[in-house]
Amino acid sequence: MRSQSATHSFNFALDYASTTIGKSVVIHADCLEWLGRLPENSLHAIVTDPPYGVKEYAFDQIEKRANGNGGVWRIPPAFDGSQRAPLPRFTALTHKEREALSRFFLEWSKLAVHALRPGGHVFIASNAFLSQPVFSALVAGGLEFRGELIRLVRTFRGGDRPKNAEDEFPGVCSLPRGCYEPWGIFRKPLPPGMKVSDCLREYQTGGLRRVNDDQPFNDVIPSERTPQRERDIADHPSLKPQSFLRQIVRAALPLREGVIADTFMGAGSTIAAAEASGLLSIGVERFADYYELSKTAIPKLARVPVTLSFDLD
Ligand SMILES: C[S@@+](CC[C@H](N)C(=O)[O-])C[C@H]1O[C@@H](n2cnc3c(N)ncnc32)[C@H](O)[C@@H]1O
Repeated sequence: MRSQSATHSFNFALDYASTTIGKSVVIHADCLEWLGRLPENSLHAIVTDPPYGVKEYAFDQIEKRANGNGGVWRIPPAFDGSQRAPLPRFTALTHKEREALSRFFLEWSKLAVHALRPGGHVFIASNAFLSQPVFSALVAGGLEFRGELIRLVRTFRGGDRPKNAEDEFPGVCSLPRGCYEPWGIFRKPLPPGMKVSDCLREYQTGGLRRVNDDQPFNDVIPSERTPQRERDIADHPSLKPQSFLRQIVRAALPLREGVIADTFMGAGSTIAAAEASGLLSIGVERFADYYELSKTAIPKLARVPVTLSFDLD
């Protein structure tokens, strides 16, 4: 086995504010700037949950959400008698905002290609409504599309009857009720002439870790909404569940060697999943409050027990 400390001897924090938590480092920075400053070929994988529509995590929109002032964050209609938390309204993005979204992910993709090792995988969360322009931009930036991972989860999106005409068209819904979350699977192209086996030997990348000897990694994962116990630890509007993320971070490092980055860390659920799995990871977050939150949330989330219906090897 190649040395783990050798892969982590580089100072990924550069000159940004940072904290070490177990095997992980969390960094307060803008990830576009951070990725651009990394040496070429320094990351083995990226597992991340970006701002799907870009706009919803602009500083002014985060503030509007906190003050209950609307913006792109709207309270959806109550469901089963319970009040729902604000959700960003992606259907309301204008043509200009969709163009800005494509430019953002094009730039991010180019920087990810620069920072990843050849064969390094990217798992990136999206939304059924926006995955098409986002994935196209990632390909235009140089990442190779390797398929989609379906996280089976009831999202509460869509399924509503036409607005203000519910009684007139009771048998119609304007969008399907969301029952899955699409995650793009991408890879930095292998160098010409290299096979996956060569890439594994040279860069410890190129493939995905199997679930166990009997099962490969599958691209449909039954999941759950983030449990309240985890939400109580980390009050972030987009917190992902440990039961899901621990399967993803594990798959992203085929030999369990190297460094995973989450460039849109939020409260640090990906980093916690890596910690729980004994893997090295780096989280980058631009918003100071979420960066601070991650420092206390990661060790607690990493200790949350999860039950899977199969054994990971
Ligand atoms: C969808 S949330 C991720 C939440 C995360 N999955 C969790 O469980 O906490 C996206 C995060 O990216 C952050 N962000 C947005 N733009 C960024 C940028 N350019 N650099 C770093 N972080 C950014 C936002 O502040 C937000 O916390």
